[in-house]
Amino acid sequence: MKTRITELFGIEHPIIQGGMHFVGFAELAAAVSNAGGLGIITGLTQKTPELLAREIRRCREMTDKPFGVNLTFLPVVKAPDYPGYIRAIVEGGVRIVETAGNNPQKWLPGLHEAGVKVIHKCTSVRHSLKAEAIGCDAVSVDGFECGGHPGEDDIPNFILLPRAAEALKIPFVASGGMADGRSLVAALALGADGMNMGTRFIATKEAPVHEKVKQAIVAASELDTRLVMRPLRNTERVLTNAAVERLLEKERTLGADLKFEDIMEEVAGVYPRIMLDGDMEAGAWSCGMVAGLIHDVPTVRQLIDRIMAEADGLIRQRLAGVLTA
Ligand SMILES: Cc1cc2nc3c(=O)[nH]c(=O)nc-3n(C[C@H](O)[C@H](O)[C@H](O)COP(=O)(O)O)c2cc1C
Repeated sequence: MKTRITELFGIEHPIIQGGMHFVGFAELAAAVSNAGGLGIITGLTQKTPELLAREIRRCREMTDKPFGVNLTFLPVVKAPDYPGYIRAIVEGGVRIVETAGNNPQKWLPGLHEAGVKVIHKCTSVRHSLKAEAIGCDAVSVDGFECGGHPGEDDIPNFILLPRAAEALKIPFVASGGMADGRSLVAALALGADGMNMGTRFIATKEAPVHEKVKQAIVAASELDTRLVMRPLRNTERVLTNAAVERLLEKERTLGADLKFEDIMEEVAGVYPRIMLDGDMEAGAWSCGMVAGLIHDVPTVRQLIDRIMAEADGLIRQRLAGVLTA
């Protein structure tokens, strides 16, 4: 397939692996890029810019294909050393950055001067248009289905993607709920130039997370995610577990009085305990509704090859067949 996204990033298939905290290490990013997609290292999972530089070097040892780095701008009081992270990206020779969480305008001139292409993740048409206006090269349009932070508008991809297609001039990928060849063909039909997947890539052999995390995704149905932190306007879609249900009970009980401190135990610092140690009750971790469509743990290459073969068959046979029927 050739789309504006494969052209922009110099990749074979229009499939991107979105940044994921404590999942997007060099092993996964390299596996996705080696299979013809665009792998992305999660910048802030590396505690310092020096550690990110090392992770970029590790990734480069595992692939000679393009890969990117995710920079998430968090609503925190003490900001991470973003200039340092950007230096590590530029000096590491990375030419693609996925930004998310907040407006990346401040960082665009530096990135563009260094020849870096920026794809910004947005959960609404208005934010996508803003990203286009400030000079982002592409956007990743994240629907309400998505694992992680879906924003506060709750517009699912069947509406959000064609709306984005109506409004945007720059290329965009569909994100949230994407799992297979059907997702890719649907994304293209709705006007996107490719797709971005998070949850689906966790349940792969190369994802360097605990086996229990992969099995939890395979076991989960589309009914098993919950929205937490909605009262704080920092909504996150997570897989349910005892800690999540406890958190939701606090949200119900405290109502408008809820403060971040009240739910710290369930959300702060839980990612390494879940992803690396497999302590599945440690707290809330992002997971998409798409878990209901994930039934196996293939290698990344098997997954991407299967998606492309299925998409090809859908377009050439099923869709062409409908026309002549
Ligand atoms: C475990 C997990 C962690 C994530 N961490 C981040 C992150 O640190 N930064 C970010 O921009 N997006 C993050 N995301 C969102 C993904 O990049 C992607 O947008 C999302 O998973 C797409 O929805 P899907 O899971 O339905 O494919 C995370 C998603 C998951 C499942």
